[in-house]
Amino acid sequence: MSASVGLDSNWGPTMPEAYSANLTRWDRNASVIDNALQLTRRAINRLRKMGARDTARYSYHILVQALLTAYNDLRFGRKLCRFYPGSNKELEGAHVIEPTPYWSLQDSFKRISISSTDVLVDVGCGEGRVLNFWLSLGLKNQLVGIEINEAAAKGAARRYRKWPNVQVICGDAIAIAPSCGGTIFYLSNPFSESVLAEFERVLRGADVRIIYYNPQAMIIFENGRWDTQAIRQFKPQWYEYDVVFISPRLGI
Ligand SMILES: C[S@@+](CC[C@H](N)C(=O)[O-])C[C@H]1O[C@@H](n2cnc3c(N)ncnc32)[C@H](O)[C@@H]1O
Repeated sequence: MSASVGLDSNWGPTMPEAYSANLTRWDRNASVIDNALQLTRRAINRLRKMGARDTARYSYHILVQALLTAYNDLRFGRKLCRFYPGSNKELEGAHVIEPTPYWSLQDSFKRISISSTDVLVDVGCGEGRVLNFWLSLGLKNQLVGIEINEAAAKGAARRYRKWPNVQVICGDAIAIAPSCGGTIFYLSNPFSESVLAEFERVLRGADVRIIYYNPQAMIIFENGRWDTQAIRQFKPQWYEYDVVFISPRLGI
């Protein structure tokens, strides 16, 4: 299984370095200018490579997605979810905070059935993008976000207080996942291979389904205990993501 290639990441702006960085106004302005310059450079590159028609269509697509993303993030989570390349440096095995794009979530969740008794868990919920997506579907199910980054977890717990069916738990998913009542677990490549091995071990034998986006350590589930179905979400020249649907192998 190859790593997912988010073609959009060659286009979008860069994001703040650390999750809780105390940026001065000067830093903020510099980062906005830097982002604008990068965006312009990428647009020119795309124009050269793909032509005006493709660039115009792609720009329109990006604009619409950006508006929809902002709308859903602000409507449900009251915050634009962002990518923090500098986050979690001190947490061994924890990957950085990086939201899944909505169009990937739409594509993944239209492929599975969710019953009213399912408990949906985002393993490493960051600032809450996946919770926003589930709320946007109008789900009344219990929705759980587990997040190890204390600042992100605390912020999310505060912002989702008004949603009675949402619970954000601060802590390590390895300890929390087996007892949180989850039946559907969403993983957006939250941790390293060794932590994922622990995660797989604590969920062995449980009646759960797992959706593994950007499955960089898929090998962990290839031990005969799980059935896996890999798909590639693909739109030529626009985006390409890998997602695997995992469920316990029957009879084991
Ligand atoms: C790539 S982000 C995904 C964010 C969100 N799930 C989404 O898809 O939009 C991975 C998240 O997992 C969190 N994380 C990493 N290791 C964790 C662990 N052991 N327990 C709980 N959360 C963890 C990180 O802090 C980060 O927020």
